[in-house]
Amino acid sequence: MKEKFIVKGLGGKKILSGKIKINGAKNAILPTMAASILFKDGFELNNIPNIEDVKRMSELLGCLGSEVSKKSENKYLINSKGLNKFDLDRKISEQMRASIILTGPLLARFGQVSFPVPGGCVIGARPIDFFVAGFKKMGAETKFKNDRYYISTKNKKLNGAKIFFKTPSVTATETFIMAGVLAKGKTILKNVALEPEIDNLINFLVSCGAKIKGGGTTTIEIVGGTLLEAKGKKYIAMPDRIETGSFLILGALCAKDLEITNCNPNDIDILIEILKDSGVPIKVGKTSIKIEKNDKINNSQFKGSGIKTKEYPGFPTDLQAPMVIFLTQTTGESLVFETIFEGRLNFIEDITRMGADIILLDPHRAIVRGPKDLRARELESPDIRAGLAFVIATILAKGESVINNIYLIDRGYERIEERLIKIGVDIKRISSEEI
Ligand code: EPZ
Repeated sequence: MKEKFIVKGLGGKKILSGKIKINGAKNAILPTMAASILFKDGFELNNIPNIEDVKRMSELLGCLGSEVSKKSENKYLINSKGLNKFDLDRKISEQMRASIILTGPLLARFGQVSFPVPGGCVIGARPIDFFVAGFKKMGAETKFKNDRYYISTKNKKLNGAKIFFKTPSVTATETFIMAGVLAKGKTILKNVALEPEIDNLINFLVSCGAKIKGGGTTTIEIVGGTLLEAKGKKYIAMPDRIETGSFLILGALCAKDLEITNCNPNDIDILIEILKDSGVPIKVGKTSIKIEKNDKINNSQFKGSGIKTKEYPGFPTDLQAPMVIFLTQTTGESLVFETIFEGRLNFIEDITRMGADIILLDPHRAIVRGPKDLRARELESPDIRAGLAFVIATILAKGESVINNIYLIDRGYERIEERLIKIGVDIKRISSEEI
């Protein structure tokens, strides 16, 4: 059933106040769920938010024969020892890019997999040439027919190989780390992504017997071995740094005070530095971030600053859309340079229609001039992160807005309206049938 948010905007007033607890990171949990295929036993996953992508990954694994059970609100148990199918469900795979991560463990363990071109956020072409080329290097044969890739190995094993990624890719890095865990011999991955979610995965795999070296560097070495064993070890998802950054930006724009708890400030230090330079009163703790007496500062007193998205530890592309909303309220002219995805500035048209002064120079660059008040509008959430940016923009704006297609927001944020209401936001979820 299609649902939407109705948001009564604050018209620039800074009245939000209270605490927001950060959930487990979607982009760390999804690869770890896929990693269950590498294990001879099951394991528990903790700090798992109630988000749509976790449900989709559970369903994908279930279709393959894995046992996935929800033990409590934030706890799952996955056991993939009975997995006996190797064809990824089309409908689910076309909704979620992360489905592609399953190809590594499936090929490594069973020597076969078939899958459609993965879907997910429409933020760019999202090619998968690194995956096809990498599996070929590891000795697999690849075919493409009836809109599906069929990849298999002669003797049901992958061979270790040296793979160089032309550009760092988070899901490709995760997929080939997992492929290497059961491949014959050594796999060397060069020019890998450095995102913290990858370390979260590596640390858990190594604790269960995987031989992986080089985590946190641009070259990772995996020595293939036998099936991993959790032996009761539990996976605990790291805090979601993108959720942390999004709430920090909301706080800077609309809160008089806000405390963000259960987070890891180190994972978003670049955003914290940029916001502090703009004049946002931020205090950083070990696992919390505070904004205080922020209502004493008008948003127009915040200085604009250019941002350039980059692979970690650069400015995260997943925080680019929320940051654009911040920049519409600061004084000055800010260049936004989205270097990773060619379709990730498409949301700007909607923000301009809300009254922002933004010039789109090309698919990768825009100039944001502020401060400009935003007016309420009816919006269509285009992807997870721009969807959250729309939530921030409509809370900031003057008047009542509607955000449609909020499934995309639910993909990455657990019942976000309940958490926002707690800090003073007037937002409600209604089904699209209701007037
Ligand atoms: C991960 O996507 C995240 N998703 C994305 O978050 C995030 O925006 C992105 O990393 C960048 O940080 C997950 O971790 C599930 P890519 P990923 O498509 O790894 C090129 C969210 O909202 N490339 O690999 O799938 C590609 O064109 C999502 O949570 C190839 O050329 O990113 C791009 O320039 C959105 N060929 C770059 O790599 C390939 O075969 C990274 O894109 C694969 C990628």
